[in-house]
Amino acid sequence: MRFKIPNLPLFSPKTLNPLTPKPHMASLLTAPEAQARTLHSDPPQDLDDVLCSDQHQQQEEQQQTFADTAPSLCLSGESRIERAWAHWSKLGRPKLIVAPMVDNSELPFRMLCRKYGADAAYTPMLHSRIFTESEKYRDQEFTTCKEDRPLFVQFCANDPEVLLEAAKRVEPYCDYVDINLGCPQRIARRGNYGAFLMDNLPLIKSLVENLVQNLHVPVSCKVRIFPDLQDTIKYARMLEDAGCSLLAVHGRTRDEKDQKKVRANWDAIKAVKNSLRIPVLANGNIRHMDDVHDCLEATGADGVLSAESLLENPALFSGFRTAEWVPGNEESKKDGKLDQADLLVEYLKLCEQYPVPWRMIRAHVHKMLGQWFRIHPHIREDLNAQSILTFEFLYSIVDRLRELGAGIPLHLKETNAATICANGSAT
Ligand SMILES: Cc1cc2nc3c(=O)[nH]c(=O)nc-3n(C[C@H](O)[C@H](O)[C@H](O)COP(=O)(O)O)c2cc1C
Repeated sequence: MRFKIPNLPLFSPKTLNPLTPKPHMASLLTAPEAQARTLHSDPPQDLDDVLCSDQHQQQEEQQQTFADTAPSLCLSGESRIERAWAHWSKLGRPKLIVAPMVDNSELPFRMLCRKYGADAAYTPMLHSRIFTESEKYRDQEFTTCKEDRPLFVQFCANDPEVLLEAAKRVEPYCDYVDINLGCPQRIARRGNYGAFLMDNLPLIKSLVENLVQNLHVPVSCKVRIFPDLQDTIKYARMLEDAGCSLLAVHGRTRDEKDQKKVRANWDAIKAVKNSLRIPVLANGNIRHMDDVHDCLEATGADGVLSAESLLENPALFSGFRTAEWVPGNEESKKDGKLDQADLLVEYLKLCEQYPVPWRMIRAHVHKMLGQWFRIHPHIREDLNAQSILTFEFLYSIVDRLRELGAGIPLHLKETNAATICANGSAT
């Protein structure tokens, strides 16, 4: 079941089944009358007929909970902190979180990561102005379903009213509306959003305050650090004072764009965590579950976000790791009976169920099969030569790789995975 974001008014008179924080993948993977493998991935024009029937009732129930506990900035600072924690607890204190990724943390990928241990997920960054203006953009770039929770919907913005209008459209479908304050790309400089708003802190404050005053769901922010630690701490405190309920800190500065070369600064994340009272998430250098364990221990953060490594290995949060991260002599180097081709097939099935643009699917094929393509580059070339994709073609790529005997297992290291759960601390 997939929702379409309706035009205003926001609610369909239909209602949803109660939320299940974890998906039941068996039912997900057996799509009703499994759509043809060649299904065109652009979202259908009209999805009203697939809207869940009990959505409205559930949304009202959810909003009631927030309305009861949390009317915006008129609350005292203390009450807002309590509210932030109450909400975090209600979500089960998610620890293992899929980071926001443009064109990559879309619904089918989020559902795959949830199956393999993710406690929560961010959407890709959505452009708030385009989101308010274009129904096509909304339909293509933001899809969700009832199992897709907890969900953090991220926007970039530089106009408080436009951001609010965009956020109002998604608030019934998510657990946080998140503001992207960390994008360091040239496009963000040109558009004056993301990390470039760090030069205009009063504007950031007004973006946060306007959402906090007018939304029923809590507001979260994802930031990068400043080169100076005190600036970072002042910045984080300003966000908390403005009403931000959850802060994700990517431990790199705006200029540290090459994530492979620059290690994230976990000390800075720890300093932020120690300076704030709201939940804080750590982001950067989470490649496998030992990193999760180490990062939680080093920073004291309430959870972690992973991006790049999840793209290659969406089963990371279940303790699976690519061979790269298994020391040669390690006892736990055991074949986890799962490989990236298995994960890709699961992902493709989810895409058949929850259509997304082909460019997203293509990106995931390259990420998940990257290692396999290095051994058999002619198959990557065949993929690149295929300007129009079909599911049949993509499944045949997997079959050909398997026939060539290119199985590269993921390894399973259970010990640390087992010690980190959403409701407990890292041990
Ligand atoms: C393909 C890709 C797309 C990304 N898109 C976003 C985005 O939309 N919003 C955002 O805040 N960060 C985005 N990021 C940054 C990640 O969320 C994350 O902060 C960064 O990759 C560091 O985490 P990592 O070390 O686990 O990769 C993106 C990263 C990647 C690799």
